[in-house]
Amino acid sequence: MDADNTISLKEKIDLERLPKHVAIIMDGNGRWAKSKGKPRVFGHQSGVTSVREAAESAAELGIPYLTLYAFSTENWNRPRFEVTALMRLLLQTINDEVVTLNKNNIRLNAIGDLESLPKLNRERLLRAMDETSKNDRMTLTLALSYSSRWEIVQAARKLAELVENGSCKAKDVDQACFEGLLTTKGMPDPELLIRTSGESRISNFMLWQIAYAELYFSQKFWPDFRKEDLYEAILDYQCRERRFGKTSEQLTKKK
Ligand code: IPE
Ligand code: IPE
Ligand code: MG
Repeated sequence: MDADNTISLKEKIDLERLPKHVAIIMDGNGRWAKSKGKPRVFGHQSGVTSVREAAESAAELGIPYLTLYAFSTENWNRPRFEVTALMRLLLQTINDEVVTLNKNNIRLNAIGDLESLPKLNRERLLRAMDETSKNDRMTLTLALSYSSRWEIVQAARKLAELVENGSCKAKDVDQACFEGLLTTKGMPDPELLIRTSGESRISNFMLWQIAYAELYFSQKFWPDFRKEDLYEAILDYQCRERRFGKTSEQLTKKK
């Protein structure tokens, strides 16, 4: 797509009705590389450009939260050399991007079992989060060693501890209190969830938080995902009628 088309797509977006939180399952790096006769790791490296474009375009539009699924709990089961390469790439990307994040006023955040990351990654990540903590244009959250079942179980465990030590009563447990124990505490739920690479599944991502998200499946492999692809997803989202259990008539009557 040429630059003119990208601009015209962007202009069609209603800035008053942007999702507050967009989440992306960045999938298809390996297949993208394979289709070019390259090793899978080349696909991961090329995917960094798409991360940059997605973050830049979301911030430019004024989307306050962007969450990217970068490494799942299950991804630890990949061949050791691929896991090592991904961890190295993560470290290098954080090192390279902190300056740009600060320039663009973007705060870096991470969710997942950060304790399971290599020490150097964890330390650098926490430092980058600290170095960008004052930025308030957009929060970019990386889901790292994340899975929803892990998150829900650790929330349940914390809740059990609170009940055990008497600081919470079982009868007071409600959705708000449970949400407060999830790693996404304080963030709005994603209103738009995008998955690339043509797969129509959720793969253990934000199962609680996407209860009412609009799902958008792109055929593109992640390294091919560009600004205009994000614009297209948002335009598609803006055509949906979000009923939250009500009838269509109820929604139109209110207007
Ligand atoms: C997404 O691309 C990146 C990670 C899961 C880390 P994949 O590596 O899953 O690429 P495919 O799906 O095998 O093509
Ligand atoms: C989901 O992609 C996890 C990330 C994008 C980080 P996978 O490639 O791991 O998902 P499955 O295994 O195909 O469902
Ligand atoms: Mg995949």
